Amino acid sequence: MIAGRAVSSHQGYIYIRGEYRYVLDIMDEALAEAYKAGYLGKNILGSGFDFDMITHTGAGAYECGEESALMESLEGKRGYPRIRPPFPAIVGLYGSPTVINNVETLSAAPEILRRGGEWYAGLGSPKNGGTRLFCISGHVNKPGIYELPMGFPLRQMIEDVAGGMLNGRKLKAVIPGGSSCPLLSADEIDVAMDYDSLAKAGSMLGSGGVVVIDEDTCMVDVARRIMHFYAHESCGWCIPCREGTGWLGKMLDRFHSGGGRAEDIPMVGELAKNMLGQDVLPARRRRRHAHDQYRKKWAHEFEQHLSGKCPYKPASLLAMAR
Ligand SMILES: Cc1cc2nc3c(=O)[nH]c(=O)nc-3n(C[C@H](O)[C@H](O)[C@H](O)COP(=O)(O)O)c2cc1C
Ligand code: SF4
Repeated sequence: MIAGRAVSSHQGYIYIRGEYRYVLDIMDEALAEAYKAGYLGKNILGSGFDFDMITHTGAGAYECGEESALMESLEGKRGYPRIRPPFPAIVGLYGSPTVINNVETLSAAPEILRRGGEWYAGLGSPKNGGTRLFCISGHVNKPGIYELPMGFPLRQMIEDVAGGMLNGRKLKAVIPGGSSCPLLSADEIDVAMDYDSLAKAGSMLGSGGVVVIDEDTCMVDVARRIMHFYAHESCGWCIPCREGTGWLGKMLDRFHSGGGRAEDIPMVGELAKNMLGQDVLPARRRRRHAHDQYRKKWAHEFEQHLSGKCPYKPASLLAMAR
């Protein structure tokens, strides 16, 4: 509502992925409360400013989280991303100038207005102010969503905030910002969780989705499962993404289940390189880069699979760590 007031807009939308219907009920309830309290609707708190807000669900596509595909989906079309420019601030939803942000970002506005930008910036690290919601999952004792200052040390996040490694196992790898980010190995976790520090460490803060992986987990299988996710979620517009993710997924299936050949290992890198920069979305480019990291950082695990047997635990156990 504050963002609407700032740009003289009178309509806001909260777009929620189709699979997350339970969130829809919570949001709808919150919006009803806000209307009842006079924070939304006509003449908000007697200010003369009108602002309506509604929730909207997609049909369930990862791609529709990308801002331009999201707007296509909101307009009732298939969720393909738009070519930019023009950017949403010039030509956005229904052809109008549009502010599009994550709800997490906009929800910082009230506290910033109350306490000032300097206060908010001071919560984080230099040039990376404020806080962030970190969603910590995988092999930790206390997975969850934690609001922490930007620049919070990753080691402390795993060892203290998330209660340490599950069953006392050792750490093998961390995905620091969602599955499209390059992974950090156990000896790289002395890093501040902010944009600049993670970029320096060769990864990204991304969505703040931290996935902690223990020593028993098969990194080939982690790569395989994530590639299947992207193959499933590809919107199919760009051929390198549509074909490449499916092809890599099938190849990793074969490789992981005992049919691996030595020439497959460099081929993963070759394929990732060929897909780089050949599609419309920067995130996809990073993703392929991220996939090549599995091959580079855990080369010995790829080589171990050539014996025909996976010596580790399947990555599916990550999703049901408790
Ligand atoms: C494939 C893809 C999926 C994305 N999914 C999301 C998402 O689920 N939520 C989100 O906030 N941003 C997502 N983004 C990033 C958005 O395009 C956009 O940068 C972001 O919402 C801007 O909001 P912010 O500045 O408040 O972070 C995605 C981007 C890509 C390329
Ligand atoms: S990179 Fe993949 S998901 Fe993105 S637009 Fe191209 S085909 Fe669709």
